[in-house]
Amino acid sequence: MKVLVATEKPFAKAATAGIREVVEAAGFELVLLENYTDKSQFVEAVKDVEALIVRSDKVTADIVAAAQNLKIVVRAGAGFDNLDLASLTAKGVVAMNTPGQNSNAVAELALGMMIYMSRGQFAPGSGSEIAGKSLGIHAYGNVGRLVAKYGKAFGMTVYAYDPFVTDKAIFAADGVTPVDSVEELYSKSEFLSLHIPATPKTIGTINKELLSKLPKGGALINTARKEVINEAELEELFAERTDLKYASDIAPSNIESLKAKFASRVFATPKKMGAETSEANINAGIAAASQIVSFLKDGITKFKVN
Ligand code: 3PG
Repeated sequence: MKVLVATEKPFAKAATAGIREVVEAAGFELVLLENYTDKSQFVEAVKDVEALIVRSDKVTADIVAAAQNLKIVVRAGAGFDNLDLASLTAKGVVAMNTPGQNSNAVAELALGMMIYMSRGQFAPGSGSEIAGKSLGIHAYGNVGRLVAKYGKAFGMTVYAYDPFVTDKAIFAADGVTPVDSVEELYSKSEFLSLHIPATPKTIGTINKELLSKLPKGGALINTARKEVINEAELEELFAERTDLKYASDIAPSNIESLKAKFASRVFATPKKMGAETSEANINAGIAAASQIVSFLKDGITKFKVN
């Protein structure tokens, strides 16, 4: 059995070594396709493998069609919006993610971005502190929970909104105040940390109407996906609300225009780096390899998403 790791943005070396260990201990062969620059390389590499590990690499219909022996694909990470689930399911290929494995890295980056924006992107001059400020968590999953925890450690007042968390005791146990609507969350949050996935239901939903509810000086921190933002409306709002700030882990499509107009209030990492720590790579990569071995050897389908 062949397991292909196809990563445009490779794992840390220690993570790849860990993946190799798990794969070879199971008697499988590891095939590495790192730093590929053209989709044709991915198409070629996937042809004869039974299993595939990816990060944000797009597993599109033509990749699935080329993968004649594919039985399982694991997205080493949380968001699986890069997988064409319809094609995979139609072909009988199991798709999984590795929830929680890279969450800490993303949560730490969210806090880092809050401080970076509060300190005027480290430009000389007085900034402000995050202690005593309100923090809204939009979606209380693995990352949201950690951001809440770290925000509280910094002395922030934390609110959260997540319609899928019906047991309110979870919020109480974390010392977090749940709110009843997304509008209420935005109106209460001096810092709004986004943790919703990109799905047909969420894409473009963070719009002008919602963002205009942020209090004076509010900052939107996006370590989720750029697709959930209505970028044209954000740009429009930023021209009207000269107090708002936006930090994003993945450059918005309109970054050049945003930077030209609002440089001191907008920041984007050059390449998505939320999960770019060796710890997160090791956790997610090894989890992905282990899930593949458990599936191929014992039929275990935990973390199946299709
Ligand atoms: C995720 O969904 O797990 C994160 O966005 C990390 O993505 P990456 O593995 O491409 O860095």
